[in-house]
Amino acid sequence: MSGHFETRAFDAAGRIGELTVPRAGVTVETPALLPVVNPHIETVDPAELYATFGAELLITNSYILHQSDDLRDQVLSDGLHALLDFPGAIMTDSGSFQLAEYGEIDVTTEEILQFQHDIGSDIGTPVDIPTPPDASREQAAEELRTTQERIELAKRVRGGLNDEMLITAPVQGSTYLDLREEAARHADASGLDVFPIGAVVPLLNAYRYADVADIIAATKRGLGDDAPVHLFGAGHPMMLALAVALGCDLFDSAAYAIYARDDRYLTVRGTEHLSELSYFPCSCPVCTDYTPEELGTMDEDAREELLARHNLHVTFAELRRVKQAIRSGDLLELVDMRARGHPKLLDGYRTLLDHTELLERSDPVSKDTVFHVSADCARRPEVRRHHDRLERLSVAGDVLLSEGGPNEAYTETWRVVPPFGPFPRALSDTYPLTVETPERLDRESYESAAVGVRALVTANPNASFALAHYEWPDSALAKLPDRVAVSRLG
Ligand code: GUN
Ligand code: ZN
Repeated sequence: MSGHFETRAFDAAGRIGELTVPRAGVTVETPALLPVVNPHIETVDPAELYATFGAELLITNSYILHQSDDLRDQVLSDGLHALLDFPGAIMTDSGSFQLAEYGEIDVTTEEILQFQHDIGSDIGTPVDIPTPPDASREQAAEELRTTQERIELAKRVRGGLNDEMLITAPVQGSTYLDLREEAARHADASGLDVFPIGAVVPLLNAYRYADVADIIAATKRGLGDDAPVHLFGAGHPMMLALAVALGCDLFDSAAYAIYARDDRYLTVRGTEHLSELSYFPCSCPVCTDYTPEELGTMDEDAREELLARHNLHVTFAELRRVKQAIRSGDLLELVDMRARGHPKLLDGYRTLLDHTELLERSDPVSKDTVFHVSADCARRPEVRRHHDRLERLSVAGDVLLSEGGPNEAYTETWRVVPPFGPFPRALSDTYPLTVETPERLDRESYESAAVGVRALVTANPNASFALAHYEWPDSALAKLPDRVAVSRLG
């Protein structure tokens, strides 16, 4: 690990971090979103991306510059920062996208990395092979080998560059999770600096968020906890919370500009077409100055720029909200809320909750109270952790587990709170048992509480147990061990 990245605050697998970019002389707070700037089409001036939108990093494509008759010499003599007029740090891509699109490109990894260095890039990228989703396993494995050879080449190039330009080690492997994990292990061992997860754009475009979540989780298994992870080509505001909660630190997106070109308007719930909007659900400067109708009748270039500006505002606002959620410890509540924007995003969230091992690695053991806002919250890491703890708690005598008050006829009365299950009364004020639940609780939470009861009962074969409950559904009662005496309260 090269030591350019430090993590500060955590929630779920998400973290606030600091990426030091030595060549630019800056330290950037993550999660960060890098707007994609096409040097030929600057929809919004890079200087403004920095000043108005707060973008401290951007990404541009070195291959486009390398192939450009009018910009190549200029960027070589003046440098990338002057060409784009951008005071922050600049990351460059390599032409891998063009390779995937057209089958071949005109440069080698050494040439394009040297070029990225010569034009003053702060973070360079080798020519990885973005194997598409659902490719054959042979293709995925073979192309991964090529990507790995290029990562080895990049290491050698980096050795000759005095370490100033950071270099990425992209993780490929298509939809094969074992290949992704192996690719991540290899990338991590390379000692390179930033770890982009590649070839997810087709999955994102198809709303395959469950597959994206599995790929991120597999990649994270192979990377160290202190590896900065970039999700290549991702930056739609609807999925930022999910991707951050899975442990991604950097995003780049051309969506703000590409979508604006065909009148698409980004929101945290999805993408809308301008022609279908009667109102703007946003308070950015664009949406407060204009109505959808006014934008619709404007000339095309002006409309495109204004839509791109809105798209950037909404995306950066969501990024700030996600970062605040990490600080406040309610990132999973935000992910839960965002997941309601699209059924496939809900699949992504449910897949995240499958990855207990990932969430357990970094989720803080204490934060403010949990808000139980959906049935899915019954599968949160806090609940699983409590169930694991119940397997180790010992209790003796006649034990009443009660949703009501204590009862002197028993040796001990423990409280029972869905979705957690039983706990000693003395723990009532400790996180996460201070959970706030709705009065009309979901079936899943009762079932989860029953799983907790079962864990405690199984761990204490010599104690006897009674449960006093108000309105547990049959499906939850059916999960209790037979030796629990069940009674209903008032
Ligand atoms: N941009 C979006 N996806 C990719 C990828 O897989 N590799 C590279 N180099 N750039 C990308
Ligand atoms: Zn707006």
